[in-house]
Amino acid sequence: MASDDQRIDYAYFQGKIIPTNEANISIKTHALQYGTGCFCGIRAYWNEKENQLYAFRLKDHYKRFHDSAKILMMKPKLSIEELIEITRKLLAKNEYRQNSYIRPIMYKSALALSPRLHDIEDDIAIYTLPMDDYLDINNGLKCKVSSWIRITENMIPTRSKATGGYINSALAKSEAILNGYDEAIFLDHNGNISEGSAENIFIVRDGKLITPSFTDSILEGITRRSIIEIAKNEMKIDIQERTIGRSELYIADEAFFCGTGVQIAWIKEIDKRVIGKGEIGPITKKIRETYFNIVTGNNKSYKNWLTEVY
Ligand SMILES: Cc1ncc(COP(=O)(O)O)c(C=O)c1O
Repeated sequence: MASDDQRIDYAYFQGKIIPTNEANISIKTHALQYGTGCFCGIRAYWNEKENQLYAFRLKDHYKRFHDSAKILMMKPKLSIEELIEITRKLLAKNEYRQNSYIRPIMYKSALALSPRLHDIEDDIAIYTLPMDDYLDINNGLKCKVSSWIRITENMIPTRSKATGGYINSALAKSEAILNGYDEAIFLDHNGNISEGSAENIFIVRDGKLITPSFTDSILEGITRRSIIEIAKNEMKIDIQERTIGRSELYIADEAFFCGTGVQIAWIKEIDKRVIGKGEIGPITKKIRETYFNIVTGNNKSYKNWLTEVY
């Protein structure tokens, strides 16, 4: 393998795998002008012992990608199976032997004026990069309920993972960071808890795991779904997908974010209220441990969630 500074990095662009620095689009591109695209964030985990790179739940990510495209009136040029195969090839071509991140994007590629969805050609690109932790997952996050409200179903559907919708996330994230917090928590248009800037949220109360439901302006997170399955199968604990009021966060015993980027990150403080005992709670800890065992290929019962790259 070439050393990091000499390494040529490859991307999938306009139907081919080419050097990433040659994968460029015009300034006239519709998606650049109007945010008319949708994307995925996927992780692959390196298992040193097995000399294997495991990509996590590719089929589920690409099913959501296709669903997002449908909402945004795009016609994917690649099937879910083709997307999986290209992703595997790309990771192998990039010779990753470390934890990595995969960013597929489907975007309105026509050089067309006027913000609309119909009759505009689209294309798919995929790039990858090495990635370890995106937020601190060990020390507990200090969070702020955002003054920005989460976009709703009838504005920009959060279910569609639309590129333009991430302006909403960026506003909240910057507000939180510039005010000395680690992450923002959105309320929805009814004043109830929605999600973080790029992650879903769970709380624990009296041994029950609680998370906002799909109608609370959230992305249908793959990690969220995985945690629900883990909690049901491995821990036999009660799960509630329901509305959460803002003050319910403050009195939760535990709270954590989950998502591909953030993985599982426990929350220490929200709006200056310490959550639980101010340390990682037992349920969060168990879920985090089980999740990392699964994604790294060390829990063989969940092998069907993983795609082997090599
Ligand atoms: C707004 C938002 N919510 C939730 C998530 C978590 O989704 P997933 O677990 O599928 O990565 C993400 C990250 O992709 C996100 O951007």
